[in-house]
Amino acid sequence: MSRSSSINLRSQLYRGLGFLRGLSYHAQSKTLNKLGRFLFQLESPPIESNKFLQDAARESLFQLLKLDADRFADGTYAPQAHDGLDVVKSWLRSPIVTFKSLAIFSRRKNKDWKVSTQDPLYPKYFQRSFHFQENGYQSAESAKLYDAQVELLFAGSANAMRRLALVPLRVALKSHQEITRKFKVLEVACGTGSGTKLLHAELSRSKHPFELWALDLSADYLGHAKKVCADLVSTHFFQADASELPFESHTFDAVSATFLWHELPNDIRKKALQECMRVLRRGGTFISVESLQLGDNPVLDPLLDQFPLEFHEPFFKSYAGQRLEETEGFTTPFHRELGFLSKCLAWRKE
Ligand SMILES: C[S@@+](CC[C@H](N)C(=O)[O-])C[C@H]1O[C@@H](n2cnc3c(N)ncnc32)[C@H](O)[C@@H]1O
Repeated sequence: MSRSSSINLRSQLYRGLGFLRGLSYHAQSKTLNKLGRFLFQLESPPIESNKFLQDAARESLFQLLKLDADRFADGTYAPQAHDGLDVVKSWLRSPIVTFKSLAIFSRRKNKDWKVSTQDPLYPKYFQRSFHFQENGYQSAESAKLYDAQVELLFAGSANAMRRLALVPLRVALKSHQEITRKFKVLEVACGTGSGTKLLHAELSRSKHPFELWALDLSADYLGHAKKVCADLVSTHFFQADASELPFESHTFDAVSATFLWHELPNDIRKKALQECMRVLRRGGTFISVESLQLGDNPVLDPLLDQFPLEFHEPFFKSYAGQRLEETEGFTTPFHRELGFLSKCLAWRKE
């Protein structure tokens, strides 16, 4: 079989797996949404009957899933970065996820975003129940449910969006091949470690020695990440605030952050972005995968307007109204790619 037909066959296989995974999460999410809205008498937002928008969103999701499959098939992504049959785990967990998610509908109905534990070590903005999830980022229980809930929200495409970061990471790794010292990477706001595993998969296949440092502000999310990433070599987890990174300037070859900026108030977001650039070496790469901003894909703008109304996301509107590409003090990104509801940007530090 020729190389191109073998890639083609593999691509069909990966596409099949990706679409089945997406379909499964989408079906679970639809059922849950119907049940939650019925039980808690919540009206569907008008966008749900906007066929034009639904078609555009579906098309954009399919494009991302196809791209993701093709990148596994042609070797752009390391096989270890694939989700495998993790969707089976999601079926097994679906009763508990459903039960807990119904509590989210109840909090949504009552606009109840207060957390029950007020830890003075956390900044004020953090002490809230983001997405109406149980106790926000301050509970081990919410950390356990987080990944399933994010995949439900994005119809099984959350990891495919996170994987967009692997393309500029690969470029950065390639340009480091001749340098003998370790390739040092910092992941900011690693959450439950889902992105950490993907970064690690790419780093470990390069055969160049590396160190991966992953931080998060939430002790509970970090605890979860440490558990699920226990077998990752050369990887260190620690608790820190993205807006005050405990590193000297010019320490890392690459810094990566996924789905962080929309969770931060404007001033903290600005500080954290500057901090990520500060700790990068000259020539280093800063990679961000985050939600689309208004105007990135105008047909999907109504989804961005609706998102913070449905979920408790008090800083999303200010994030979505800006342009990450025009961050103060940053050069023009050398890499920009949109994937469904996300945007991957990468800058090189001069
Ligand atoms: C939406 S989650 C994204 C997590 C992960 N990167 C992912 O891809 O799923 C946002 C994460 O940002 C963390 N976070 C919020 N504010 C932070 C800060 N100032 N410093 C570090 N982490 C922060 C939260 O604890 C949470 O884990």
